[in-house]
Amino acid sequence: MANDSYVAGVDVGTTKICTLIAQTAPNGQLDILGLGLHPARGLKAGVIVDHAEAVASISESVDQAEQMAELPIAGAYVGVTGSHIRSRNVTGRVRVGPSGEITAADIEKVVQSARDNVSLAPEREIIHALVRDFAIDGQSGVRRPLGMHGARLDADVHVVTGIAGATLNVRDAVEETGVKVQKQVLEPVATSLAVLSEDESNLGVAVIDIGGGTTDLAVFVDGAIAHSATILIAGNHITQDIAKLLRISYAQAEHVKKRFGAAFGDMVTEEESVVVNEIGTSDQTTVPRRLIAEIIEARLEEIFLLAAENLQRSNIYGTLAGGVVLTGGSCQLPGTTEMASQMMADLPVRIGTARSVGRLASRVASPIFATGVGLAMHAAQEGAYAGPPPTPARPAWLDMISEWWGQNVKPRISQYFPRR
Ligand SMILES: Nc1ncnc2c1ncn2[C@@H]1O[C@H](COP(=O)(O)OP(=O)(O)OP(=O)(O)O)[C@@H](O)[C@H]1O
Ligand SMILES: [Mg+2]
Repeated sequence: MANDSYVAGVDVGTTKICTLIAQTAPNGQLDILGLGLHPARGLKAGVIVDHAEAVASISESVDQAEQMAELPIAGAYVGVTGSHIRSRNVTGRVRVGPSGEITAADIEKVVQSARDNVSLAPEREIIHALVRDFAIDGQSGVRRPLGMHGARLDADVHVVTGIAGATLNVRDAVEETGVKVQKQVLEPVATSLAVLSEDESNLGVAVIDIGGGTTDLAVFVDGAIAHSATILIAGNHITQDIAKLLRISYAQAEHVKKRFGAAFGDMVTEEESVVVNEIGTSDQTTVPRRLIAEIIEARLEEIFLLAAENLQRSNIYGTLAGGVVLTGGSCQLPGTTEMASQMMADLPVRIGTARSVGRLASRVASPIFATGVGLAMHAAQEGAYAGPPPTPARPAWLDMISEWWGQNVKPRISQYFPRR
């Protein structure tokens, strides 16, 4: 396969590293060529806490995907999240040049002017400056101002910032595996690309990705990003609660959660029970399944309460006519959509999995793959190919020298230094 036809995304999650190698099919869908899924080590709430462990797990995931695709990847789009992420909407303004026709340079300048309006602490950097809307001479709602006429160009821009060291740590860990980080993309931005329909993002929709270490939010209104945020409570906290309250190991709590969990206590009858091993002993004991569901209910309620408060504070709660799309591993708990709707003003809620996937769609049908697919889609949209650069053709003169060496010098060397 040509090096310039396939793309790659690496989702460096708190619980798993997902690598996707894909190509765009003629019908515009993304065909999956390779998938690598390996448990994440050395990460906490989206940030690297043990470099060597993180590198080892990223490397395993990348190798798996390369083996399945039978293709090497030299570059990839990589996700970024964590408590250090902040976002806000700012505006930029420029005067259009004397011709009155808006050029690419004017557009670049207006985005730069919005970026300049963000005051950054020395340790922070801008990860994204995503244009939400342009206005020409005060007339807003312009999507593509290139070539249009006016005297003044304004841009409304969603700026995402993060601590430079934290994003650099992820970049370094990926690059140590031999894969160049072509772009770091905010995880909810990538996820939204994979799970949202155009209609939803035009109507106004919130994507809530409940992963292992973080719950990421992204809101789209009028087809453009309006808000993004990260909440530091997610599925791992639910598992920890179960482990602590039932006095069982983390691994067993994870199993019990996935096998017997539910979002509401009253989804489970009082008679049902689950056998568990008490920690530190070989004793088995039974616990009411309803208790497990009640522990989950309390944490999930907290997650949705924090999400609802965050959206309310940002003044966009009323704009979500398209409802809420849940994704990430933790939304697979039965009853999660009902809980989300109850906690968020009865908005319609659905589970989001990657759309527009052709070949091997069933392999990425779980909400845990939405971010990885979104990263690969982002790379495909921007034509950022993952293959190694083609090796330059061998110059003809090198072949001539090699032939001359073989015919004239090599026989003499063998004559003087015969092989034993
Ligand atoms: N079937 C399931 N039922 C309930 N919870 C599940 C299920 N499958 C996965 N989870 C939970 O989902 C979480 C992992 O989700 P996901 O793979 O989206 O996270 P991540 O991308 O690794 O982490 P993050 O995005 O927070 O950095 C874990 O807490 C896991 O226990
Ligand atoms: Mg994730």
